[in-house]
Amino acid sequence: MFQSVLICSSLMVAVIGFSVVGPEISECINNAGPLPLAARVTGCTGTPCVLPQLEDVPIDIIFRAVHTTVSMSTTATAFFSFGTMQLPIPFELSEKSVTCNYLINSTCPVKTGSILLYTLDFFVDPVFPIGSGTTIEFTVWGDHQDAMMCFRVPLTVQSPLPLIMQRKSSKVKLSSNNRTNGI
Ligand SMILES: *[C@@H]1O[C@H](CO)[C@@H](O)[C@H](O)[C@H]1NC(C)=O
Ligand SMILES: *[C@@H]1O[C@H](CO)[C@@H](O)[C@H](O)[C@H]1NC(C)=O
Repeated sequence: MFQSVLICSSLMVAVIGFSVVGPEISECINNAGPLPLAARVTGCTGTPCVLPQLEDVPIDIIFRAVHTTVSMSTTATAFFSFGTMQLPIPFELSEKSVTCNYLINSTCPVKTGSILLYTLDFFVDPVFPIGSGTTIEFTVWGDHQDAMMCFRVPLTVQSPLPLIMQRKSSKVKLSSNNRTNGI
């Protein structure tokens, strides 16, 4: 009995441990950048990736530098479907667009062929309506505005998590502070 509980719980750990399988990513349409070696969206277990609004979602990316570069910048473009048309809407990553600041095991400048581990904290902005389906293209650009890496990931946005479960959305924290002050 005790043994089976043990087996059961270690099985559960195994299942939870491996539940962070990535979504299906695909090559970009807008840019010619190569796919990363791997990309994992935290909390995303299938395709499309279902993410709660107002969360910072870490995306772990491993990619190979196609050439030497002193600086890099990351852009994100959301594609919304209207019938057969895909409307691209670029959105602001502000300070998170400075790719070099978010390299985990390397620093800029990077050399041709370096394998880079990079974490992009992607804020699921309220511009993504709840229930909406979209595809996002993430691109890392090198010194000469050439794509060092690019991938697309399909996404469905769901309601924000209850306050107690929210990770680190500063916007939400600010408004809850104000509410506390008001009481
Ligand atoms: C960084 O991490 C990746 C993934 O673990 C690894 O393949 C790569 O060799 C590392 N790069 C450096 C410069 O340590
Ligand atoms: C919330 O509080 C912050 C800091 O006290 C203040 O700057 C901000 O204007 C407040 N926002 C609202 C909506 O009251």
